[in-house]
Amino acid sequence: MIKLIRGFKDILPAETPRWQRVEAVVREVFDSFGFREIRTPILEQTELFARSIGTNTDIVEKEMYTFCDCKGDSLTLRPEATASVVRAYIQHRLYAKDPVWKLYSIGPMFRRERPQKGRYRQFYQINAEVFGVNDPRADSELILLLMTLFRRLEVSEITLHINSLGCPACRPHFTKALGSFLADHTSRLCSDCLRRRGKNPLRVFDCKVPTCKEVMADAPSILDYLCTACRTHFDAVLAALDRFHIPYERDHRLMRGLDYYTRTTFEVLTSALGAQDAIAGGGRYDRLVKELGGPDQPGLGFAIGVDRLMEVLAGNAEPLEKGPRLFIAALGRRAQMAGFEWMQDFRTKGICTEMDFSDRSLKSQMRRADKLGASYVLIVGDRELDTGAGVLRNMDTKEQQSVALEDIVRKVTKIVGSKERAKVRGQKSEVSD
Ligand code: HAM
Repeated sequence: MIKLIRGFKDILPAETPRWQRVEAVVREVFDSFGFREIRTPILEQTELFARSIGTNTDIVEKEMYTFCDCKGDSLTLRPEATASVVRAYIQHRLYAKDPVWKLYSIGPMFRRERPQKGRYRQFYQINAEVFGVNDPRADSELILLLMTLFRRLEVSEITLHINSLGCPACRPHFTKALGSFLADHTSRLCSDCLRRRGKNPLRVFDCKVPTCKEVMADAPSILDYLCTACRTHFDAVLAALDRFHIPYERDHRLMRGLDYYTRTTFEVLTSALGAQDAIAGGGRYDRLVKELGGPDQPGLGFAIGVDRLMEVLAGNAEPLEKGPRLFIAALGRRAQMAGFEWMQDFRTKGICTEMDFSDRSLKSQMRRADKLGASYVLIVGDRELDTGAGVLRNMDTKEQQSVALEDIVRKVTKIVGSKERAKVRGQKSEVSD
């Protein structure tokens, strides 16, 4: 048997109602915050990710699915969405119409990480990007949006960690101080961190090796090195969060795994998952648009890990899985043909309708209707076709009524089309002959 690739997974029909509900809420909340949807391809030129995420990051160094197509171009399955959205903003000159854009997207990302619970090689992100706004209120608005989403989805047990990574004016002072600190602790750093120390010392904060974590507990704080402009910006973001009563933890070790960030960075952690506890992360990237060849426009955004979000939500009540509104139980060749035609008419009227094509006994067809969770069953045999009346059974109340076959689709639609609650699929009800 051919099986799934390691780290990939199927989302089966029992789970998709929850995904659909989340996506519906997400679209509603993005709408109310004035965001518009953008869809970019999952395949891009490798250079886009190398230049934006940074060549000395784990993602670019070892986690990308990169291959050469037959013309020799190096292509990569997107490991994140920001780079693609920035590329689209530049390529389609969206900024020329208006520099300010608020965009969202939902879709799969690919990273060749070591698979474990909450960490997959294909995973889904809900992604938000804002362009053209320097004001710190945009940072707090974005965090407010994220928190509104979590509240609407009833995700609790979360903490917001927030930091500022400064700007090109102040960060080099911090990097220098960090470099001297690391130089004094080389004997306790792992081989990866010794390598990172030279190329990209901020990445040492991300290391999970216990001795490195111990060393980094005493590392200098970037918040002590912010220039006045970055400090004022950060204070304004925090003040807005206070005003909206959004609790946060200032976390000077939060560096994020991507190199494009400037100033505000944040992550939402949950205590409901194991080691993979980050369900969302984001921040500002004020230089990225320009670095990728666009105008000097700031940007900021976040991404929610949908797979992890679903694992958190799995403890909540199951969303309703709807059965068909109507099942046509047809007995005999002529009734099967008539039922088949009616089914199409019901469906075009928006009534979810099913029937069984195997011409089995009424008892088996009723069992099937029950298993599917049908709300009503229309019972018609060749004999009913001759007498001109079928039977409509309400599967909840078990009431049956005779319905004349003339103009049957309109008559039955009137009865079964009412807004009564749909049955939960799989719910048991008694079936009699
Ligand atoms: P990120 O922190 O790399 O940020 O990913 C965001 C979220 O995606 C994580 O917090 C996590 O929930 C989920 N995630 C990441 N990797 C995996 C994985 N292997 N399996 C399951 N879930 C995963 C970004 O991607 C940035 N582009 C976010 C951003 C948008 N910053 C600015 N704009």
